[in-house]
Amino acid sequence: MVQQVRVVLVTGGIGGIGSAVCQRLARDGYRVVANHHPDERDKADAWRRSQVGVGLEIDTVAGDVSSFDDSARMVQQVKERYGSVDILVNCAGITRDKSFKKMELTHWDAVINVNLNSVFNVTKPVWEDMLERGFGRVINISSVNGQRGQFGQANYATAKAGLHGFTMTLAQEGAAKGVTVNTISPGYVETAMTLAMRDDVRDAIISGIPMRRMGAPAEIASAVAFLAAAENGYIT
Ligand code: CAA
Repeated sequence: MVQQVRVVLVTGGIGGIGSAVCQRLARDGYRVVANHHPDERDKADAWRRSQVGVGLEIDTVAGDVSSFDDSARMVQQVKERYGSVDILVNCAGITRDKSFKKMELTHWDAVINVNLNSVFNVTKPVWEDMLERGFGRVINISSVNGQRGQFGQANYATAKAGLHGFTMTLAQEGAAKGVTVNTISPGYVETAMTLAMRDDVRDAIISGIPMRRMGAPAEIASAVAFLAAAENGYIT
């Protein structure tokens, strides 16, 4: 029997962790589509060409995941190109770090919309198809800070904690239909997001990590690949 090539959509696919996820799954033989924000078309084109340079064919698709309508349009576009979305990796995320006394509604809304509402917006248009086909994987990238909080991240920690509730509920709703739903909660990973922190804050955080180093994006991608695999259908 010819094994069907599974189609993966990675939101925030040209970002730090997202890029590593796309590369790993493309190497593993999946058909991978990396989502990027509509304002980042040039960056996404350059990113796609750089993947070709290392022998990887990864498609890109524009879509504002904080918008329900644009997410639906984006998913439809992927379905028209490849027929389905079998594996969804919700990876898009931003920070607007401020102590709560300095946090404005705009900082709150931006992070809740991109990091939390996006998982509703993008999972919704793929979910029913997954249930009907009897196979699906939804992998949500949360954060250690969603479980323990972090000074300056009331918005981010709330969104990342919210992902857990979403995951645990969809896991129950998908379980009998072959659709697994999991959250990965990375610690601090070497990306532009963590590089943007003040040096002294970053150094203090690293000194508190038992391994005394940040994670590498490829180490998170490895966990995504494990959960995406057809043979790992009993973890949800
Ligand atoms: N812990 C305890 N106290 C802190 C603090 C901290 N981390 N940061 C600031 N403070 C204290 C200051 O010492 C100061 O105290 P006093 O008023 O007594 O002098 C007070 O808070 C200053 O408050 P400010 O509102 O002025 O805070 P600030 O501007 O100095 O710093 C911040 C705020 C920039 C958000 C800083 O707290 C910070 O960088 N926090 C870390 C945020 C972080 O971890 N971001 C991770 C980004 S990567 C990511 O999110 C990926 C992932 O999933 C892990």
